[in-house]
Amino acid sequence: MPDLLCLGIESSCDETALALVRGGRLLAQTLASQADLHAIFGGVVPELASREHLRHIGPLFDELLVRSGCNAGDIDVIAVARGPGLLGSLLTGVAFAKGLALATGAPLIGVNHLHAHLLAAGLAAVIPFPCLGLVISGGHADLYIVRSPWDMEKIGRALDDAAGEAFDKVGAAIGLRYPAGRAVNELACAAEKPFAALPRPYLHNGNLDFSFSGLKTAAVQLAKGAGIHVSGGGGEKLGQFCLALNEAVADTLAEKTRRALEMNPDINALCVAGGVAANSIIRDKLSGLMAERGGAFLAPELKYCTDNAAMIAYAGYLLAEEGFRHGLDMEAVPRGRPVPCDWHRALA
Ligand code: KG4
Ligand code: ZN
Repeated sequence: MPDLLCLGIESSCDETALALVRGGRLLAQTLASQADLHAIFGGVVPELASREHLRHIGPLFDELLVRSGCNAGDIDVIAVARGPGLLGSLLTGVAFAKGLALATGAPLIGVNHLHAHLLAAGLAAVIPFPCLGLVISGGHADLYIVRSPWDMEKIGRALDDAAGEAFDKVGAAIGLRYPAGRAVNELACAAEKPFAALPRPYLHNGNLDFSFSGLKTAAVQLAKGAGIHVSGGGGEKLGQFCLALNEAVADTLAEKTRRALEMNPDINALCVAGGVAANSIIRDKLSGLMAERGGAFLAPELKYCTDNAAMIAYAGYLLAEEGFRHGLDMEAVPRGRPVPCDWHRALA
């Protein structure tokens, strides 16, 4: 069914988003971000996030139908991010998806939010399978072997702070608003040289895991010692400090990515995804690494790096096209528990 119309629902963290993909192409999307609300508290407050999802999801669905010119009855399959994420937030999207599946008769497919991030580049380009996948977001720094949309093997992970947390927590320490990744990136790009050398953490080992908590501590200490803070009026030192932090994260990610490619010589393509994949210094470093190796580099457009429903609809479309489905007993999976590939195959 090449023109399968797939609805995607994303509510795993602090963005409520819905999108429609037809035949693998994005038709329309709607999104409500809660960033301003959570910025007051310096991080996502789970109970507030669930309430906001509940408030927004119905009106966003109505608006999506108006924008796309589709009716609810036209939807062939309903894809929903089932985890990992905040349980209360996930449950809002999953309950909405199940209700809609019951009302319309359309089948349900639960999508792994992280796999959807990795497939987001496919909205605009052809992903060459197998490829190496690097998910860098607020909660993750994971390396995968991506064999197909339904076959991904995790070969490295963040042992403590994720890549985005390093940006967000150091950013908060120097007075930047949560989430600070984008501001650190912008300040770093305006600087000519780094303030000082920061460590490239957790490279003296043979594994593909990441640990950014030591870098975070080193950066916060450096900022405190040198009096670097937004309240100091910004200035040259602030940008140079952000550049030092951004380069340390970029170099560390690139080095483990290089090792992963060396350990898997049959793979010479990299697909990077997640909110931190919007970082221009990290994108340049990783695309440079792939250019040196004569391999392909893929990254989603900037707006599809951070959480969105286009990637959920697209991943759901790929799974549904292959015949995968879930029953209405599908469960949401909170952060910290593996998301099972417990689909069943629909009869042709
Ligand atoms: O994927 P995402 O929207 O949500 C999660 O699933 O976590 O990622 C959010 C993260 C935040 O940590 C934010 O600071 C970071 O992505 N981020 C960036 C940039 N844009 C967003 N980090 C570095 N540079 C950026 N340009
Ligand atoms: Zn995400």
